[in-house]
Amino acid sequence: MFNENWYSEDQALFLQKLVSQTHGISGSVIEIGCWEGKSTTYIANACYPENVICNDTWLGNIAESQLTGITHVTEIILKNRDVYSIFLNNMKSLTKDNFSVVKQDCLEWLQTYKEPIKFCHIDASHEYQSVYDTIKLIIPNLQKGGIICGDDFLNANINRDDLKGGVERAVRESLTGFKNYGNLWYYVNI
Ligand SMILES: C[S@@+](CC[C@H](N)C(=O)[O-])C[C@H]1O[C@@H](n2cnc3c(N)ncnc32)[C@H](O)[C@@H]1O
Repeated sequence: MFNENWYSEDQALFLQKLVSQTHGISGSVIEIGCWEGKSTTYIANACYPENVICNDTWLGNIAESQLTGITHVTEIILKNRDVYSIFLNNMKSLTKDNFSVVKQDCLEWLQTYKEPIKFCHIDASHEYQSVYDTIKLIIPNLQKGGIICGDDFLNANINRDDLKGGVERAVRESLTGFKNYGNLWYYVNI
């Protein structure tokens, strides 16, 4: 199952409620930053029978390491663990197999992805620039009523100089009218 508990049950249940709010809207359901699939399984089960597109490099939070000069824990773990295989096993055993995988850097992929999006959860690197760039690439494709959201609003807060203001700064600068449920930020495209 899950070696790390990087996503609380409470937050995962709130995440499912957000997914449910997009029922009836057309467009894709996406998660960026899946790791072993904890949050991904909740999204997949909430959007069934639709698919969730799972985007991750499974190379770890390289952008954070490059910025801080400290190797991120994800990269350290990946030296000794096949996280991608664990992700696939978790998705097969805990969901109805309603997922597809894009194993690519999110910024590269999103530059080529032009389909309508109704739900996107972002939980990749947490430094300001990559979160900001990711949001900016998603917004033009976000459907009316669609939701973009992400983890670590509090953990990677605006006072984190090591992350150049982190998730909170990226969200504040790019989305007017966002809300947060603890560590989970979200924005509904009304
Ligand atoms: C904190 S983990 C995600 C945790 C997961 N959501 C959970 O519930 O356990 C961050 C993930 O983002 C991925 N990641 C980091 N930078 C990325 C990028 N530029 N493109 C795609 N995935 C990335 C990492 O490989 C890692 O698997």
